[in-house]
Parts: sequence; structure tokens; C-alpha cells
Amino acid sequence: MPPRPLRLLVVAGARPNFMKVAPLIHAIQRHNARQSVVSGPSSSVVGPPSSVVGPLSSVVGPPSSDNSGLSSVVPPPIAYRLVHTGQHYDEKMSEVFFRELGIPAPDVNLEVGSGSHAVQTANIMLKFEPVLLNAFQDAPSDSAFQNVSVSAFDSPSSVVSGPSSDATSLSACQNVSVSAFASPSSVVSGPSSVLRPPSSVVSDPSSDTTSLSAFQHFSFSAFEKKSSLPDWLVVVGDVNSTMACTLVAAKLGIKVAHVEAGLRSFDRTMPEEINRLVTDSLADLLLTPSSDADENLRREGVPDHKIKCVGNIMIDSLVTNLPKARASTILQQLDLQPQNFVYVTLHRPSNVDHRESLEVIVKELENLAARLPVVLPIHPRTRKMLHDFGLSWSGVPGLKVVEPIGYHDSLCLTENARLVLTDSGGLQEESTYFRTPCLTLRPNTERPITVSAGSNRLATLSRLGTDLDHILSQPGRLGSIPPLWDGHTARRILEALCPKAG
Ligand code: UD1
Repeated sequence: MPPRPLRLLVVAGARPNFMKVAPLIHAIQRHNARQSVVSGPSSSVVGPPSSVVGPLSSVVGPPSSDNSGLSSVVPPPIAYRLVHTGQHYDEKMSEVFFRELGIPAPDVNLEVGSGSHAVQTANIMLKFEPVLLNAFQDAPSDSAFQNVSVSAFDSPSSVVSGPSSDATSLSACQNVSVSAFASPSSVVSGPSSVLRPPSSVVSDPSSDTTSLSAFQHFSFSAFEKKSSLPDWLVVVGDVNSTMACTLVAAKLGIKVAHVEAGLRSFDRTMPEEINRLVTDSLADLLLTPSSDADENLRREGVPDHKIKCVGNIMIDSLVTNLPKARASTILQQLDLQPQNFVYVTLHRPSNVDHRESLEVIVKELENLAARLPVVLPIHPRTRKMLHDFGLSWSGVPGLKVVEPIGYHDSLCLTENARLVLTDSGGLQEESTYFRTPCLTLRPNTERPITVSAGSNRLATLSRLGTDLDHILSQPGRLGSIPPLWDGHTARRILEALCPKAG
């Protein structure tokens, strides 16, 4: 009998999430493809990723035997579902990233859209709960598998111990008891009024994505049909979707793995800081990008066995996409010369949601553009606030305000800029990788390693001119690449979720 696949439910919601889930999904696909080779030529796991949840006989061949009585040392295949919350929904804020990063269409799009933090968070929670409960409703029942499953309620320590221990690997991946779905009785009693037969599931004929309503029809039956639950909810980053989905899973006793855990700006006026604190305090496995994040978590009392430093997953996407980024024609399109322009992105509420600060930003960017060409792909929040405050650009020739750009163009600008000026977390990291000087227009950063090891510096608007003088007097490349920002983070994440995978 084959081992039961490890079931991962992966969530993405907003632009910076997409480059974090792409490497993970590709690593899962590689893991399954490798597994099919190990398991024998007859098995097939390649193809539409969701199809790996189909009949397990088509996922793995006969398990290998050893004398331990555990008939398989091959890690189980990994079945996953991808949920897009729809926090970002535009072609330019979402779809272009799915295309460029090769992310398969999400299995479900919650289509929550924009709203206040409370509205957006609540909408995500409401719509995500039934999807979570039925994520694997079409998977074969656990009795079809050898030694049952990875436990949804298993101690995380057995999972994060690392790939070096075979005993750990086996217990984590193949030989765990049925406790997976020995849910607390209080959890099992879902409201009976929502029990509907799974046969009411219908696909939305207009898209690849199964509509949310299809999942709502039979939501709480998951508690009875326990194999519909994932082993792990995997969330990334620090957006509202990350926190909202974590809350739902934690309350249902489903384990949460947080990718990019442990980052702290120590500034609770940032919505993302609240999201990070809540997510990390509930997550069972904290997958960190750097040692400063480990320290933050330890300081907050998180036990060591929950923390695993896996490196920076953004860099996996960067490394994979570098050839395409280098083929981008954005420099020609915008008439920019390498090493002779400033790449600006600004969208944080602290910078753009107040008239006074946005007015100063407009003025300072125009001053900057008089010295060096400036390119500003404008975030929808920034555009909206400019409109609401009645602010506009005065038409300085060197200032190129353009629509939001795709991932490859953005990497190309970051690699070739003389300076990046940003309030984005991702750009601080990408410029660190390229060693491009970066000024972060914020009083703090949750990514201090980009300052201590990399090319990043915190900046204020009033000092921009002086900072630019300073940077122009320095070499074009600064800093170094932090440890484990090497393009292999997704593999380490799979190893942490299921030792021997990757
Ligand atoms: C969100 C994240 C932030 C991340 C940023 C990247 C939170 C709290 N914030 O902020 O951490 O750095 O995404 O972009 O989760 N809009 C569109 N099209 C879209 C999405 C948004 O036009 O596809 C507009 C709407 O007018 C919306 C505004 O942009 O009100 C802001 O979007 P929202 O998702 O609320 O927050 P972001 O500022 O994008």
C-alpha cells in the first residue's frame, strides 16, 4: 500500500506573496517528479499539480522494502491545494505574477477584494473556513494508505528535527498513528445545518478555478470525512491574508507553517507588524529567513523546536527568474541607462495615507529627478491617495511615473538602478541580493539584515538629497548576500515539513 501523501494547503493573497509561494509549489512538483522516478517508471506524478491528489496508485509505485518492517523509506508524495484570497485582484497586482512566475491557477479564489483591515480580515476568515475544511475532500480516504497519515495534531517537534534523523523522518512521514483526525470532540461538532453532500460540488465553467460557492455547499462535513483536512496550512509573509487564514486554521486545530516568520519592525503602527505577531504566536512551525528572526522568536518565548531557519524564499524566485529579468526590455522602453537612474516604489500607509507626507514625497521625487532619472511604478494605494488629496506631478522630465510593473521588469530595474528608494520589504531584500544601494523610506525595518549585511539604509525625506550625494560617492555595489539566501529555501521548507522531502 502506498504512503499517504502529505497534504499542504498553501495560501497567497497579495502581490508580495506570489513570489513566495511560486518556489514552494515548484519544489513540490520537483519532489513529486523525483519520487515517481524513485518509485518506478509506471507511476506518474507530473501533470497538473492538483492531480497528485488523485488515486494514490497513480502517484507512487510499489514502496521499497527494508528489514524494519516499515515498508517504505521513500517520503510520501506531497499533495497541495493553492488558495488565492483575492486580497489583490488586478491584472497588474496579481495575474501578471501568476503568469511570469509560472504559478498554476489557484484551486480556489476567495475574491475578497479591498476593504478596511477589519472587513478584509473578516471576509477572508469567513470565506476561508469552509475551503480549509474541505480542501482535500476529493482525496481518497486514509484507509487507502499504508500506516495512515501524517498527523494533523502530531507534535511539531517530530517534524522539524531535520532530515538527518531517519527515525524522525519515518515517524513524521510514514508511520504516524491515526491521531491525524482524532480531533477534539468540541471541534467535531460542526453546525449540522451546513452539512451537505460533497456531490454538490460544481466547477466554475468560466475559469480553471473552482468557485468558492462549490466549497461552501458541504463545508462542515469535513469533520466527519476527516481526510479532507490538510496536514499543514502554509502561509507566507505578513499581509492580512496571512493572519486571517492562520487564525482560522489555529482555531480548528490544523497546524500552521509560517514562511518568513520572526521578522519584527517593533512598530505596531504597521498593520504588517500586527499580522506578524499574531501569525507567529499561533503557528506551529516558524520558518525564518535569517538568524535575527530566530532571535526575535526566542525572545518572545517560542521554543527552539518550532523554529527552523530555512533562508529567504524571495531569493529562490529571484534566482530562478534572473535570466528572464535580464531579458527584460524595460530599460529601453523607459529610456534608462544602467547605473544611472533611481528605482522608486512607495505604498506604505505611513508614507502615502497622509496629505503632508505625500506632498513632501511628490516634491522630493521631483527634486531627485532633476539630478538623476527616476522611475516610479505607482501602486494603486498611492495613486488613489494622490487623487484623494488632489496632488499631482508637475511634469519634471526625468520623473517617469508608470503603471505597476511585472516581476521580471522589477528585478531588471533593481539590478540596474544606481539607487533603489522604497518602503517595500521585498525590494529591500532584492536590492540586497543585487548589492544595489537601497534607501528605505521608513523609520525602521523588519529586515535589519539588509542593513547590517546588505546595501540597505533607513532614510527620511528631509535627508534624501544628502543621502543621494553620499551614495553617488560610493561604489555602485555594496554589502554582501546573507547566509541561506541561496535559491534553495523552498527545498529546506519541504524538508522541515516532511523530513526526507525536498
Ligand atoms: C498590501 C499589504 C502590504 C503589502 C502590499 C503590497 C496588508 C495589511 N498590506 O497593502 O503588506 O506590502 O499589499 O502591495 O496586507 N488595489 C487595487 N488593486 C489591487 C489591490 C488593491 O487597485 O489588486 C487598491 C485598492 O484601492 C485598495 C488599495 O489598493 O484599497 C490598497 O490595497 P490593500 O490590499 O488594502 O493594501 P496594500 O496597500 O496593497
